[in-house]
Amino acid sequence: MVPLNALFLLFLTAKLISGDSTNNCKSKETCSECIQEIGCLWCINPKTEIHCVYESEVRDSWCEDNFVINPQGSDEVLQNSPLASTEGNAVQIRPQRVKLTLRRGEEYKLHFQYAQAENYPVDLYYIMDLSASMEEHREKLAKLGAKLAQTMMNITNNFKLGFGSFVDKVDLPFVSTVPAKLEHPCNLNKKNGQKVVCVSPYSFKNHMSLSTDYNKFSQEVFDAKVSGNLDAPEGGFDALMQAIVCKDVIGWRAQARHLIVFSTDAEFHIAGDGKLAGVVEPNDARCHMVKNSYTDYLKLDYPSISQINNVAKENNINIVFAIVNKRRIVDSYKKLSQVVENSNMGALDEKSENVIKLVVENYNKIVDSVTISSNSSNDVEVKISSTCPHPKANGCTNIHVGEIVNFTATIKPLECSKDSNHKTITIKPEALDESITIDLEVLCDCGCEATNSQFFIPKSDKCSTNGTLKCGVCDCDFGFFGKSCECSTETSQSNDDTTCKPNKNDTTVCSGLGICRCGQCQCNRRTNPEEKIFGKYCDCDNYSCKRVNGKLCSQRGTCECGGICNCEAGWTGDACQCPDSTTVCVKPDGNNLICNGHGTCNCGKCECLDEEVRYSGKYCDECPTCEGQRCEELRPCVECQVYKSGVYNQDECKANCTNFLTEVVDKIDNHQDSDVKTCTIVDDNDCTFVFQYEYLDEKQLRVVAEKEKVCRGPPDVLAWVLGVIGSILLAGLILLLIWKVCTTVHDRREYARFENERQKMKWHRNENPLYKEATSTFANPLYHK
Ligand SMILES: *[C@@H]1O[C@H](CO)[C@@H](O)[C@H](O)[C@H]1NC(C)=O
Ligand SMILES: *[C@@H]1O[C@H](CO)[C@@H](O)[C@H](O)[C@H]1NC(C)=O
Ligand SMILES: *[C@@H]1O[C@H](CO)[C@@H](O)[C@H](O)[C@H]1NC(C)=O
Ligand SMILES: *[C@@H]1O[C@H](CO)[C@@H](O)[C@H](O)[C@H]1NC(C)=O
Ligand SMILES: *[C@@H]1O[C@H](CO)[C@@H](O)[C@H](O)[C@H]1NC(C)=O
Ligand SMILES: *[C@@H]1O[C@H](CO)[C@@H](O)[C@H](O)[C@H]1NC(C)=O
Ligand SMILES: *[C@@H]1O[C@H](CO)[C@@H](O)[C@H](O)[C@H]1NC(C)=O
Repeated sequence: MVPLNALFLLFLTAKLISGDSTNNCKSKETCSECIQEIGCLWCINPKTEIHCVYESEVRDSWCEDNFVINPQGSDEVLQNSPLASTEGNAVQIRPQRVKLTLRRGEEYKLHFQYAQAENYPVDLYYIMDLSASMEEHREKLAKLGAKLAQTMMNITNNFKLGFGSFVDKVDLPFVSTVPAKLEHPCNLNKKNGQKVVCVSPYSFKNHMSLSTDYNKFSQEVFDAKVSGNLDAPEGGFDALMQAIVCKDVIGWRAQARHLIVFSTDAEFHIAGDGKLAGVVEPNDARCHMVKNSYTDYLKLDYPSISQINNVAKENNINIVFAIVNKRRIVDSYKKLSQVVENSNMGALDEKSENVIKLVVENYNKIVDSVTISSNSSNDVEVKISSTCPHPKANGCTNIHVGEIVNFTATIKPLECSKDSNHKTITIKPEALDESITIDLEVLCDCGCEATNSQFFIPKSDKCSTNGTLKCGVCDCDFGFFGKSCECSTETSQSNDDTTCKPNKNDTTVCSGLGICRCGQCQCNRRTNPEEKIFGKYCDCDNYSCKRVNGKLCSQRGTCECGGICNCEAGWTGDACQCPDSTTVCVKPDGNNLICNGHGTCNCGKCECLDEEVRYSGKYCDECPTCEGQRCEELRPCVECQVYKSGVYNQDECKANCTNFLTEVVDKIDNHQDSDVKTCTIVDDNDCTFVFQYEYLDEKQLRVVAEKEKVCRGPPDVLAWVLGVIGSILLAGLILLLIWKVCTTVHDRREYARFENERQKMKWHRNENPLYKEATSTFANPLYHK
């Protein structure tokens, strides 16, 4: 068994290496399977055995022309009105309707044009948080109302303005339900001592539907009364949802740019918060307004961020979050605007003085760029590209009114479905109510397989009367198999197994993974129903593809014969592990360049180039060595604004430093998120100062500096010299002392030992052990006295 498996593996590897679509044709057994493979041709009545052949391998002798089935894609432009900015009838995208017929896997490049119409209608709906703290902003907006209208009229003479306000769900813990508090929820005085009129809290109120009566806008804002509530976050999402979906109440026009300016100074409640007041039913994203007020605020929970995102997208609404400049609040709306498509955030200053500037800026940001999106599902791939000078992911930026931008949409059907192969796809500029409709028909079936075709012959003799001849091949009835349905599952096994081997010399039949019956391989079943062995010689399977983290083809594709992953739209790589598009390599809110222009996008990851200055980070947007450049660039303005020093005098400072006004703090907080860059600069006087900068949006900088520079005085030379001499002396003294101590200790020890040994002496002090007497006495044995 082992060698068989080895052989099988070898076979697989061999297939892997040569695995391209040319090999796939021959394995297709029916006409529809064949034509679903791009480049494959079917012959109803071939002169050889093979019905399905790759186009470049077609030989003259293979098939007569009238038997060849090779459906071709086609296109037809059904509606192609020229671009126009005629009032009330603007056309900003062309063509408008296209009919396409494509084979599965066939790519079609649709060229289309977009131009921003002049005087395109604009609907601006202003939603304001009217909790008590917004009183000043309301007053300011009332005063600026007329000017806002004028300014917008400068941009387009077809402009409508509306106004709505919100507080929160009227229940504990959001607002106090004590009757007296309900009536007078706040107790505020204006700066001039006047009492602020404060009305009962409410959820969302439409004060003025979209209209051209701009004076009414100012009047409505002026007349609106603030209210009070308990907790810090407000119920703005309820208001946003109603303002977006209640098209009739608000009066959104179909053909217009829709802008919601959402102005608040507090954070927002999101889905789930309603629970606190016992409101558990999820928001249904429908309109529930009676007499210009939202009615179901105690029935439906707050909408989720993704609901807001979806309805805004569906209804072509751009949202501008105009947030009162408090750091934490601004931060959370900044993050919100990153996840809500077509939204921007801008900071309102203290008293909303800059509200007009903010609206106009964000409006321009919206119209200056276009993002094309399509609603194709997974089975059709649509890629958008453009040759415009400032491309961004799926679109372009820096477009001027009237400028024609050329786009190409590459459309490729990836799947044939069993139900319907007619699809309608729309390609549209986001947040605009214009689109290209594509009627797409995917060619998945062969006409000769239809029952009314002359090539559809039930009970055909060619199929042993036990099958239907379709497009020249037998579709056997249940219980029969074989090329001409000559085998029955009941009849005995044939001994001839040569047709079960790729070539005669092979010793194994059916690649060792099946048995040969009636000259055909019947492949083994796998115990796992997800796994299948198939192919003429059981040489294919759908489980030997590359895995990532144990997931076959990363679960983003099907495993085809030969161990090849057929990836879903948007993914590539041998295990479908790589995103196809480079959008993931483009930093959201960045400069729209792939890997910041300093790297290449490889398998969904930026690989930063090895340039003179080295960039790093997820989007190659971090450059530790370049950071100083921006610091140096900002330095003169920070210096003159905060410390009244540096290269600019005060006049130059006013003239040159218009981008930002440095905020002054006592101590800079170093534990900031990574968006905040810290600069430490040592000036000519040897003083150090620290400042931080961060981007509020693409252009706007926020700079914070420490109030005081840290300076060191000039060095005192005498003190230095004396200090050095003193320390040398001191070191000498210490050394002497140590030497003295050491020798003393040593001497003491020696003396003690000497004393000790003397104690242990076995002889008397006046008895010298070395002393020998000068005379010796010997006894002579022979001597007798
Ligand atoms: C309208 O535009 C003109 C010229 O472009 C400008 O002078 C005028 O100040 C603008 N008006 C407003 C209200 O912005
Ligand atoms: C795309 O939108 C059009 C129009 O809204 C719709 O008819 C079509 O079914 C949508 N297509 C898909 C794939 O959702
Ligand atoms: C856009 O395409 C049209 C033809 O489709 C061509 O005439 C025109 O020059 C192109 N414009 C640009 C800016 O490429
Ligand atoms: C077709 O099947 C029937 C049994 O259903 C059998 O009697 C008959 O012989 C088969 N025809 C051929 C040509 O094998
Ligand atoms: C099969 O084996 C014979 C003799 O061993 C050899 O001549 C022939 O080329 C082989 N055929 C193939 C297809 O390997
Ligand atoms: C393999 O084929 C079987 C039978 O067609 C199918 O049920 C299974 O989902 C397939 N597995 C994969 C991973 O495609
Ligand atoms: C700063 O302003 C002065 C005078 O207003 C001008 O001469 C100088 O070029 C400006 N410097 C920069 C960097 O803009």
